[in-house]
Amino acid sequence: MQTAIQRLSLLLFGAFTFVLPAAQINAAEPFIARIPRVWDDDAMAKLEIRLATDVKVQHIPSAYYYQIPVRTIYKTYAIYHPDREPPGYFAALLQKDPEIAFDSSRLKTKEDWIRAGQQVFESGLTPLSTDVPFTQVRNRAWYTETDAPLTKDGIMPLYRYVIRKRGQVEVTMDSCATCHTRVLPDGTAIQGAQGSVAFGKLFAFHIRHSPDAYRYKPARPQLLDLFGTPWIQPDPQAALMNMQMNDIADIVDRLPHGVVPRDGTSLAYSVQIPDLLGVHDRKYLDHTGLQHNGGLADLMRYDAINNFINDLTAFGDFRPFNALKSVAPADALPPASSQSRYSDEQLYALALFLESLRAPENPNKANALSRYGERVFAAQKCGICHTPPLFTNNKLTPVSGYDWQLRNRDLQQDIIPISVGTDSTNALLTRRGTGFYKVPSLRGVWYRGPLEHNGSIASLEEWFNPARLRSDYGSNNAKPYGMETNAVAGHQFGLDLSVRDKAALIAYLRTL
Ligand code: HEC
Ligand code: HEC
Repeated sequence: MQTAIQRLSLLLFGAFTFVLPAAQINAAEPFIARIPRVWDDDAMAKLEIRLATDVKVQHIPSAYYYQIPVRTIYKTYAIYHPDREPPGYFAALLQKDPEIAFDSSRLKTKEDWIRAGQQVFESGLTPLSTDVPFTQVRNRAWYTETDAPLTKDGIMPLYRYVIRKRGQVEVTMDSCATCHTRVLPDGTAIQGAQGSVAFGKLFAFHIRHSPDAYRYKPARPQLLDLFGTPWIQPDPQAALMNMQMNDIADIVDRLPHGVVPRDGTSLAYSVQIPDLLGVHDRKYLDHTGLQHNGGLADLMRYDAINNFINDLTAFGDFRPFNALKSVAPADALPPASSQSRYSDEQLYALALFLESLRAPENPNKANALSRYGERVFAAQKCGICHTPPLFTNNKLTPVSGYDWQLRNRDLQQDIIPISVGTDSTNALLTRRGTGFYKVPSLRGVWYRGPLEHNGSIASLEEWFNPARLRSDYGSNNAKPYGMETNAVAGHQFGLDLSVRDKAALIAYLRTL
């Protein structure tokens, strides 16, 4: 039987799942978990803006999605560098029984949900043993070759140990924490802050230390699954498609820290891992503004799609997953039981966790120089796009040569029709390519980096250095594979300021 509050909430909010028994609803500080239905066919159809290449994008139907088994989330444990591990630590893990860490029936307060969301954030989809090169966290050479960071306590915060079976300690390697954790110079790990993982080096280590059968395998099926855009001709990734995995290692090894060949982008033009602190204030998600973000439910949808469901999406008659597994016919879906997904409850907890994250305290307090810099910021009209207090106007800027008037009239109020002229490949030639880059927030830029959607810029000093426009410029960060010039083009705002004004502007930006 429904209580009065449940009936009222149903009227107000529609068909939400109530996970709290009625007794708790009357508690002093009641927390009612209103869990939206994530994979709603209508919402999914309207979630993303159209692609610049005009291919028809179709997410999997909800009837199929909800048949996919839910991931079990087990309790995880910190990983120490072999030289920093407390005596007996690993031996004790080997004696532990598995524990289920996520059980929504036990979550009562908002605090409980947030902590459970952190467990989701830290637990990967496919735990691997410590023998696999990707996760050789007990091998000292792995740390030096992959630049894996350590906290001041000697913990490697990108992965966690997980116990799914007594006597078998595995490693989570594809959790949100892997990419969305930043270790500050003082050894503090900040979850959700712009990621600084050398993901390319992890991948390169994996390939180079794998058996020959993997190293010399054609890369094509995997590249098609992750990045393929066969409807774009000539194929911008044709040269890569003919490589072997070993060649791929050489390419990813050069990627700057904090830059990832995220699926749906490209191995040739990878993207910067964004800051998730403040993600709730953003109207669009992804550098290209691919997805609307109208609230918690949309953030949950982003997390559902982007964690190993997106290769089931159809792009015209191309379904990336089928390229990897040779499923035929090309538009068929594999059995739902062969896939895995987060439950709506897990995604809700994860979204609450992300919302609860706060930036570390900014040590750069306002002073005379930064106050002068604030005036430079105003005089340069940076605020047209980087509008306080969010330091973004939450709008999209078309890349050079993209005719948005022809295709995106529906978004007109969210478009600022000035192209900043940065490299357009990611916005035009990928599965996430919309023809736009969104205006990023400048909040937290003091601890962030690398900058620009592709992470080609290491620091604010470099961003405002006009030398970066020259074709012989040696970028502080690796240039994307196949790029013919070393120039970092575009966003010429503030480049011609005097030395003094520039220093002041940068000092101001570091206070945000
Ligand atoms: C392999 C690295 C990797 C993993 C794992 C990963 N992400 Fe991301 N994430 C990225 C990259 C790179 C982007 C930027 C993609 C783009 O702009 O094209 C991104 C974008 C996002 C965004 C959009 C933010 C914005 O402002 O545009 C959200 C939200 C997000 N990730 C949440 C998560 C969550 C939650 C998880 C775990 C369930 C996760 N990510 C796992 C690398 C990763
Ligand atoms: C017409 C809109 C516009 C104006 C004006 C503008 N920007 Fe930007 N800014 C952008 C866009 C769009 C990007 C992202 C470009 C990309 O990633 O390719 C960006 C990126 C940045 C970044 C890198 C942020 C990051 O996280 O990667 C900084 C720093 C920045 N702008 C500062 C400024 C300053 C300071 C001014 C004034 C001197 C200014 N911008 C003027 C639109 C603008």
